[in-house]
This record gives sequence, C-alpha cells and structure tokens, in this order.
Amino acid sequence: MNPDTEDKPFVDVRNLRVTFTGGKKPVEAVNGVDLQVKRGEVVALIGESGSGKSVTLRSLLRLHPPGRSRIEGAMRVGDQDVLALGTQALADYRGKVASMIFQEPLLALDPVYSVGAQITEAIRRHENVSA
Ligand SMILES: Nc1ncnc2c1ncn2[C@@H]1O[C@H](COP(=O)(O)OP(=O)(O)O)[C@@H](O)[C@H]1O
Ligand SMILES: [Mg+2]
Repeated sequence: MNPDTEDKPFVDVRNLRVTFTGGKKPVEAVNGVDLQVKRGEVVALIGESGSGKSVTLRSLLRLHPPGRSRIEGAMRVGDQDVLALGTQALADYRGKVASMIFQEPLLALDPVYSVGAQITEAIRRHENVSA
C-alpha cells in the first residue's frame, strides 16, 4: 500500500469553529479545534463539562441547527468533505461513514417510536436486510 495514503488521517478536522447564533448574543462553543484520527486509531476527547466535546463531534455529523449555528474550518471524513455534503449525500454519510452513540438515551431517543425501530433504522437505511 502507498505509505502516503496509509498515513492520511481518516478524520481530519482543521481549525473548527462553531458559533451558535440563535440567542441574544452569539455563543462561541468551539474555537479552533484540530483533530486527526487515522484508521484503526482510537482517540478520546477529555475535558471539563461544557468545554465543547459534544459540539465538536456533532459537527462531524452536521447535527447543529443550520439557521442557528455557524460552522467554520474544514472537516474531512474518508474522502468526504463534510461541510460540502448535500441533503442526499448527508443521509448516505450519517450512520454509514460516521455515527454517534449519544450520551443520554432519554434525550436521544424519540418516545413516539419504539427503541427497536430507532436502533435498526440506521442499519436498514444503508443495508438491504430485514428487521
Ligand atoms: N445549541 C446550542 N446553543 C447554544 N449553546 C450551545 C448549544 N449546544 C451547546 N452549547 C454550548 O456550547 C458549549 C460546549 O458544550 P458541549 O460541547 O455540550 O460541552 P461538553 O464538552 O460537555 O460535551 C457549552 O457552553 C454549551 O452550553
Ligand atoms: Mg458532552
């Protein structure tokens, strides 16, 4: 294998800045994060509560409300330019290239749908398998 491609990080975040603009004053939640993760590598983000760990990772899935947040910098995952993904490409990307296990199930799960439906949704969206 070409050492250049082998060394290239699978996740490459450069100077990520996230600002929430929905309130009275803009909130700068993340200010200049760089993060590189190679294939097979495990990285833990450690920091005090409110330091921006979740906001950083939600950015990688483009989960922030578009009209009320501003994401600047560059994010690549695999060969995808995360900030450039359109609606369809984003749906193909989430749950297949990048996924998130949320911290708080009572907030992350929708009480209207069964837990089983929500667990299998991401798999059935991408794979041709039965429930
Ligand atoms: N939707 C939002 N609107 C405004 N501020 C937010 C929003 N989401 C997170 N924040 C703020 O961004 C900061 C970082 O939060 P977060 O990433 O959740 O921290 P943690 O490191 O504990 O995961 C906090 O000050 C939080 O209040
Ligand atoms: Mg968090």
